[in-house]
Amino acid sequence: MAERVAGKRRADLARPRRGPFALNMVKYDLHDYDAMLADPERTQAYLAAIAAAVRPGDVVVEIGTGAGFFAVAAARAGARRVYAIECSDVADVARELVADNGYADIVEVLHGDALTLSLPERGDVLIEDLRGVLPTFSHRFAIIADARARHLVPHARLTVLRDTLWAAPCQTLASDASLGEMPYGISRRAVARRIRDVWWRVRLGASDQLAAPRELARIDLETVSTPNVAGDVQWTIEHRGLMEGIAVWFDAEMAGGAAISNAPAAPRALYGQALFPLTTALPVSPGDRVHVAWRALLVGETYVYSWDTTHESAVDGRATAFRQSSLAELLPARAVREQEARRANDSTGHRHA
Ligand SMILES: C[S@@+](CC[C@H](N)C(=O)[O-])C[C@H]1O[C@@H](n2cnc3c(N)ncnc32)[C@H](O)[C@@H]1O
Repeated sequence: MAERVAGKRRADLARPRRGPFALNMVKYDLHDYDAMLADPERTQAYLAAIAAAVRPGDVVVEIGTGAGFFAVAAARAGARRVYAIECSDVADVARELVADNGYADIVEVLHGDALTLSLPERGDVLIEDLRGVLPTFSHRFAIIADARARHLVPHARLTVLRDTLWAAPCQTLASDASLGEMPYGISRRAVARRIRDVWWRVRLGASDQLAAPRELARIDLETVSTPNVAGDVQWTIEHRGLMEGIAVWFDAEMAGGAAISNAPAAPRALYGQALFPLTTALPVSPGDRVHVAWRALLVGETYVYSWDTTHESAVDGRATAFRQSSLAELLPARAVREQEARRANDSTGHRHA
């Protein structure tokens, strides 16, 4: 069964060379870097991809080196020069780690934002692990497109080649509904009316999927030129359950045949899955149809996610539609009240979110 995992705090890193997306970056601490390293699924896949992509004499660019482990791996693989870019203060730790491993003459740690800094030469290989639960994390696609344009030679080798996004309707124990409207006699309406318009991280088991996963989108990192991602998927429900929302995860194809997946059925990796909740959980039965139109749109510094979900009962044909967007979380309270009033006046007979 699923467990809910606390989301990451977003923080203003307030770097002197702050890039356009810096406000929306996620801040990691040293425990986070150790936790990433300790995830064998992720670390072994990256080390295999680095060994496959880096050739002796290469110039390697790593974006988001963290504490510098993969930069050292690139140097060990024979790189002539490694530019290890890191926007947070952990860059100082990376410098020390690089020196401890005897590669200070090969690896140059650059403390800054990859989107704004310039390198003295272009790289033959790109290493990046900017992903989180979703590959859209940290404005990764915009950063990779910018790196291809400014930091890399044409046809540079990438350690991550392709991301496929998968989705499935799912049940989960990780619902906010258990709190009710008045926990301890205090209204949480201000939270409740927004919280199901935001995705959250869950750890699903294979049995939480109510239908087989379908491909939502495929992103080729050698050509990606837009940060926006979209997909439309339809399922026929296979198992009776309470559909809490649509779970989304990724499979990454990497250099040398390495791969990472955070699928519910895959070996448990650090990431977990993203749950895009329905406004209200829905009982579903085998044969029911579920359709979702899912969008991730980078607006300024923030990804706005929208997921329009339709459920059609196999028993009586009754359709229920939800229109949801993380924009609701960003709207001022007055706009939320106006939106609620519009919903109340909606005369279509369908439920809308
Ligand atoms: C998921 S962590 C991976 C860290 C490291 N590669 C590792 O394996 O431990 C992503 C790192 O990218 C950094 N980062 C995110 N956006 C960046 C940017 N635009 N420029 C430079 N570093 C960035 C973050 O501060 C973070 O340290």
